[in-house]
Amino acid sequence: MTILLTGANGYIGRRLKHRLLQMPQIRLRLFVKHGQVVMAGERCEIVEGSTFDTESLERALKGIDTAYYLIHSMESANYRELDRQSATNFRDACIRAGVKRIIYLGGLGEKESASEHLLSRIETGEILSARPDQIQTFWFRAGVIIGSGSASFEIIRNLVEKLPFMITPKWVNTLCQPTAERDVIEYLALAAALRYEGNIIIDIGSERMSYKELLLGYAHAVGLERVLVPVPFFTPKLSSYWLTLMTPVPYSVASALIEGLKSEVLVKNDNASRLFPAIRPMKYEDAVKAAVEEIKNTQVLSRWSDTSGTAWEVDHSALADAVFTDRQVVTLGGVEPSRVYATFCSVGGDRGWFGYELLWGIRGFIDKLVGGYGLSRGRRDPHTLRIGDSIDFWKVVDLQENERLLLYAQMKLPGKAWLEWRIKDGSLYQTAYFYPQGLAGRLYWYALIPFHFLVFKGMINSLMNEASKAPMRF
Ligand SMILES: NC(=O)c1ccc[n+]([C@@H]2O[C@H](COP(=O)([O-])OP(=O)(O)OC[C@H]3O[C@@H](n4cnc5c(N)ncnc54)[C@H](OP(=O)(O)O)[C@@H]3O)[C@@H](O)[C@H]2O)c1
Repeated sequence: MTILLTGANGYIGRRLKHRLLQMPQIRLRLFVKHGQVVMAGERCEIVEGSTFDTESLERALKGIDTAYYLIHSMESANYRELDRQSATNFRDACIRAGVKRIIYLGGLGEKESASEHLLSRIETGEILSARPDQIQTFWFRAGVIIGSGSASFEIIRNLVEKLPFMITPKWVNTLCQPTAERDVIEYLALAAALRYEGNIIIDIGSERMSYKELLLGYAHAVGLERVLVPVPFFTPKLSSYWLTLMTPVPYSVASALIEGLKSEVLVKNDNASRLFPAIRPMKYEDAVKAAVEEIKNTQVLSRWSDTSGTAWEVDHSALADAVFTDRQVVTLGGVEPSRVYATFCSVGGDRGWFGYELLWGIRGFIDKLVGGYGLSRGRRDPHTLRIGDSIDFWKVVDLQENERLLLYAQMKLPGKAWLEWRIKDGSLYQTAYFYPQGLAGRLYWYALIPFHFLVFKGMINSLMNEASKAPMRF
């Protein structure tokens, strides 16, 4: 069976790819906007493109039996319109290519009370399944997904771990039905070979519980005592700011999620248990424990921040034209390049930024205050990196073993910035590049010169110092 997986750089897509490749009868084709972010391999090829580019869709869908649709455009302001167009293009291209089945994962919830984000997910499902005479659609619907790295799970984890006492909005009493990430992936994977005629909507979820029970359930699962006091004066806006400050998600994601919490998201059919009797939905607290264990063991396969978004709309190859640069150079002085490489690849997250952590912390806090990521995204894995990983408010956009790490700044800035480490001719080059936007950008750079002088110089020295002492990791 030849399967097309779209959204293969995304949170669900990366995990589903992993699961599908464990099924020997499947050949996989990944449809991605940026091929450098994913890995091809045996039984797995890559087609670069976009659902807004018909020619690339045609190439991707040639010879495909089943196509997964795991796409959304939430990063754009007009995402509803884009999502409608994207789903229409995809469905029509599938029909033209003779694809037999589309498998889509959307959200639980009803149209009448849906948030803007959920409405867009519902519209996508309706469009994909609007031609039952020509193509079959399996429309899965899931609520809060409990898995390491999922946005909802990171919010729950951060709130509970950081706050022993929580004043919460009234919405914490709204009912939901969370589902373990492992179950979601299993349903999606098994759906490829399921014998079933016609379209179907399959709702997935475990126990019914309120968001308050969700938070307290997490606390119970990890052995913490927490107190929640719901109060009436928490407006959605205030709640979104609070989530932005206390958790890794930026304001745009927090406000979309908060809007969705006003209405119940419950399973409305038993199709999951009828069609997939072998899957016994994991209990909420077991799903929490499994996710926490994955984080502890650094086995996080994907995170909500993996999606490349706007980071790849920028040309990362023209850094030589940057208006401002700060370059520091030191000789390796006998330290193995592989040690230096491993050391700069460990930057960020709990490990920090090689000195002046207070200044980095202040910069991160300012970023949070203006709705950015701040330093709270941390790292997916403390030691290894892959292109597309987020590190605090940076994104890895180039990685060349024992040679180069290039980070693109995703902090709120009046311009575009990169930080690069490169090993060349026995020396380490550390360069910060900045393309200012207008006068504000120029003033920003000049205002930071004294800090850059301290931070960047200290950074390369401390990095080399650590590299010379670092034990090799095998
Ligand atoms: N994650 C959850 O907690 C959750 C819960 C319930 C339901 N769901 C549903 O599951 C589905 C997948 O969600 P997710 O969390 O995995 O999303 P995600 O991490 O944001 O990934 C979305 C993917 O869509 C790709 N994409 C966007 N526009 C595209 C286009 N025009 N052409 C080709 N690819 C495009 C993105 O590519 P780039 O990486 O290149 O930008 C990205 O890989 C969604 O329908 C969502 O509603 C998710």
